[in-house]
Amino acid sequence: MPADGGLLDWVPAGDRGAGLFLPSEYLVKPATERWERREAMRLRREVFCAEQGLFGRDDRDTADRSALLLVAVSCLSGMPEQVVGTVRLHESAPGEWQGSRLAVHRDYRRVAWLGSELIRLAVGTAHARGAWRFTAQVQAQNVPLFRRLHWHTLEEIELHGRPHHRMQANLAHYPPCKAAGFVSMPRRAA
Ligand SMILES: CC(C)(COP(=O)(O)OP(=O)(O)OC[C@H]1O[C@@H](n2cnc3c(N)ncnc32)[C@H](O)[C@@H]1OP(=O)(O)O)[C@@H](O)C(=O)NCCC(=O)NCCS
Repeated sequence: MPADGGLLDWVPAGDRGAGLFLPSEYLVKPATERWERREAMRLRREVFCAEQGLFGRDDRDTADRSALLLVAVSCLSGMPEQVVGTVRLHESAPGEWQGSRLAVHRDYRRVAWLGSELIRLAVGTAHARGAWRFTAQVQAQNVPLFRRLHWHTLEEIELHGRPHHRMQANLAHYPPCKAAGFVSMPRRAA
């Protein structure tokens, strides 16, 4: 155990609840380990099947055969601990990339910009692989988040009976990224 008893690995969750602590460091990276892929799929089922009811028991589809899977992993004492976010990206036609299945664990939303960082790594990675266009079908409630991240609406559509926007990222704001990932940290409570 570290000299501080591991306490430096946790930060107060602020307005999320007195006495609640969250890990102080997250890795946003491609899923390279089998457990990371397994836990990312579990998180997708929790979010898209159980929480949102968009799919039955399993949200996997043909895009998963070729998609690159990214994860956000919480760390304790510098060691990866839990997959708390995920997104996938795939090339649907030469140079045309799509992102989908963006999900952050309920307890880790709005704490460490994990959704934003997953989007940044997804688009930057595709850009580095030659993307000239990156699009996603965004649930209507998330459109403001994507707009702030320099995406614009191409068309409004209905998917799974819910309103969505087909949106495109402005690649000028997403430099090609060949890094193995990012470290993301939560904003500490005052
Ligand atoms: C959409 C989703 C992925 C966003 O994940 P997230 O990690 O909460 O995203 P971010 O933290 O990057 O940004 C979300 C918001 O929290 C804010 N935020 C981020 N970190 C913060 C912090 N430390 N303190 C205060 N606010 C913070 C951001 O400014 C942003 O503000 P907004 O609500 O006004 O848009 C997540 O809500 C989710 O999984 N939803 C369910 C599934 C879903 O809808 N998927 C997307 C399909 S298109």
